[in-house]
Amino acid sequence: NAAPAVLPSLLLCDFGDLKGEVSRLRDAGAEVLHLDVMDGHFVPNMTYAMPIVEGLRRHTDMPLDVHLMISDPAKYARPMVEAGADMLTFHVEAVRDVAETAAQIRELGVNVGVALNPETSLASIRPCLADIDMVLVMSVEAGFGGQKFNPVALEKLQTLRSEFPDLLLEIDGGIDPTTIGPARAAGCDLFVVGSAIFKTDSYADAMKVLSDQIAA
Ligand code: DX5
Ligand code: ZN
Repeated sequence: NAAPAVLPSLLLCDFGDLKGEVSRLRDAGAEVLHLDVMDGHFVPNMTYAMPIVEGLRRHTDMPLDVHLMISDPAKYARPMVEAGADMLTFHVEAVRDVAETAAQIRELGVNVGVALNPETSLASIRPCLADIDMVLVMSVEAGFGGQKFNPVALEKLQTLRSEFPDLLLEIDGGIDPTTIGPARAAGCDLFVVGSAIFKTDSYADAMKVLSDQIAA
C-alpha cells in the first residue's frame, strides 16, 4: 500500500497568493496537492480549472491530485493533463459509464480515480474497480469545504480495504485531528484536508498534528 499522506486541498487557501501558499505548504511538509475543480453544474459551486492548474504546474513539482467535481469529466481530461494534472479523479455520479470514462482518462497516461459522495453506494463503482487506480471516498457532499464529517465514509473504506487489500484509497471532507485516525484505521491511504489546515494559524503545526495520527 501507499505510504499514508496528508494532501492539502486548494479550496480554502488564499487564491490571491497561490504561489506563496504553495511554498508555505511545501515548507509545512506537504508533498502532494489536491485541487478542487468545480464547474457550478455538477456541484452548486465554482472554483477554477486549466489556467490555475497550469499556473500551479509552473510553480511546483509536487504531484497535482485533481478532483474533478464537474459534468462530462472525460471531455476535460486531456486539457487537464496538458495543464499538468498528475492524477484525475472524476465522480461516478457525473458519468453514464464509469469503466469507459476511466479507460478514456487512462489513455492519457495519468492515474485515474473515481469519487463517490456519501449517499452513493459502493455498488455504483464495483464494476469498474479493475479499471481505476484509486477510489476517493467522500466524507462530505462534494461542493464546499468546512462541512461536517459523515462517518458513512468509514464503512465504505473498511469494505473496500477488506475486499481489495492493494487498492489506493483516499478520503476527502471534514478530515481533522479527530477524524483522521478513524479514517486511517478504516484502511485509508490518502487524507485530503481543507479547513483543518487553512483555518489554522500554522500550516506546519496542522500538518504535523495530522501526519502524526497516520504515521505508518
Ligand atoms: C469538497 C472538496 C474537499 C474540501 C475539503 O467538495 O472536495 O476537498 O475542500 O475541505 P474540508 O477539509 O474543510 O472539508
Ligand atoms: Zn476534493
